[in-house]
Order: sequence, then structure tokens, then C-alpha cells
Amino acid sequence: MSPGVAPEVAVRAATVEDVPGIHELETLAFSDPWTPASFRSMIAQPLVIATVAEQAGRIVGYCIAWAIGDEAELVNLCVAPALRGTGLGGRMLDGLLASLDGRGGATVYLEVRDSNEAAQALYRGRGFLAAGRRKAYYRHPEEDAVVMRRPGAVGGGGD
Ligand SMILES: CC(C)(COP(=O)(O)OP(=O)(O)OC[C@H]1O[C@@H](n2cnc3c(N)ncnc32)[C@H](O)[C@@H]1OP(=O)(O)O)[C@@H](O)C(=O)NCCC(=O)NCCS
Repeated sequence: MSPGVAPEVAVRAATVEDVPGIHELETLAFSDPWTPASFRSMIAQPLVIATVAEQAGRIVGYCIAWAIGDEAELVNLCVAPALRGTGLGGRMLDGLLASLDGRGGATVYLEVRDSNEAAQALYRGRGFLAAGRRKAYYRHPEEDAVVMRRPGAVGGGGD
């Protein structure tokens, strides 16, 4: 590697060994973070699709979703502060959507803080549309969630 060139970021399936690194990022990014135990049990579920981004042995991003039949939910997506705006969040989300499309397509749902413009812009750019609102869904601080929905690419979007 040449001096000044950032080490490559690899995106791969998450394992329970990644939980400490995932949790470290989670506590930096969210005021009401999940516990390590929640991540461990989530990653162990067969319906869960969990990926991490790794750079020079450090976890710098994660994406966690579950899928059942033609429905899926993106439950968490996070990028290390130093790497935000470099395309990594989009890359992990594209990987998840491609994997769901490859299984026949699923309608994907997610909740996002009303004030989280960066995440909402990312989701809109990938075909998600606002589909509702959950009043006072978040704590610390209390805030509404915007529910977003992306129809499945193949077959899964009809309703
Ligand atoms: C939301 C988050 C995952 C985005 O990841 P990222 O790596 O910074 O995003 P990318 O660089 O891949 O940008 C993807 C798109 O998001 C949008 N975006 C990213 N940062 C933005 C910002 N600060 N303001 C507005 N739009 C932004 C852009 O539209 C960009 O579009 P493009 O793909 O056409 O370039 C990241 O900001 C993050 O980890 N935030 C904290 C955790 C969080 O809020 N997660 C979402 C919970 S629902």
C-alpha cells in the first residue's frame, strides 16, 4: 500500500466475533444503542442478513436486516464517522438489496428518525418512499420515526 492511500474496505457477512466492533460503532452513532447481547442474538437468527465493513482489521460499518418470504426489514445501518460520505453506507445497502432481489425480491421496510436527513437521502436514492410515521417511536430524545418502504424488484412489491 502506498503512503496516504486508505486501506481497502471489505464488506462481508458478520459473525458473533464482530459484535464488539459493531457495538463500539453503535454507541458512537446512536443515543439509545442496542446491547451486545441484542446484536449477538440478532446475528445468530437464520432469517437475518448481517454484513460488516472491515478496514485494516477494524469494523467500520454494519448493516442488519431480516427477510421472511417477500418481506424484509432493514433494522440497522451504520458507518464509522470518519468514513461517512465516502459511499460505504450506499455500498452496504446496495449489497443487501441485491441479495434480496437475488432471492426473488422482497418489499423492504425501515424506520428512521424524522430528523435523520442523511439516512433518508440515502434511502430515497435507493427507491425507498415514506410510507407512514410512528409517533414518539424513539427515545433520547423522543422523536417520531418515518416508516419507509421499497417495493421488491421482482414480484414482491405488489399489494
Ligand atoms: C446514514 C449513513 C449510514 C450513510 O452512510 P454513508 O456511508 O455516509 O453514505 P454514502 O456516502 O454511501 O452516501 C449515500 C447517499 O446518502 C446521502 N447522504 C449521505 N450523507 C448525507 C448527508 N450528510 N446529507 C445528505 N445526504 C447524505 C447521499 O444522498 C448519498 O447519495 P449517493 O449514493 O447518490 O452519493 C451514515 O451517515 C451513518 O452511519 N449515520 C449514523 C447512523 C445512522 O443514522 N444510520 C441510519 C439509521 S436508520
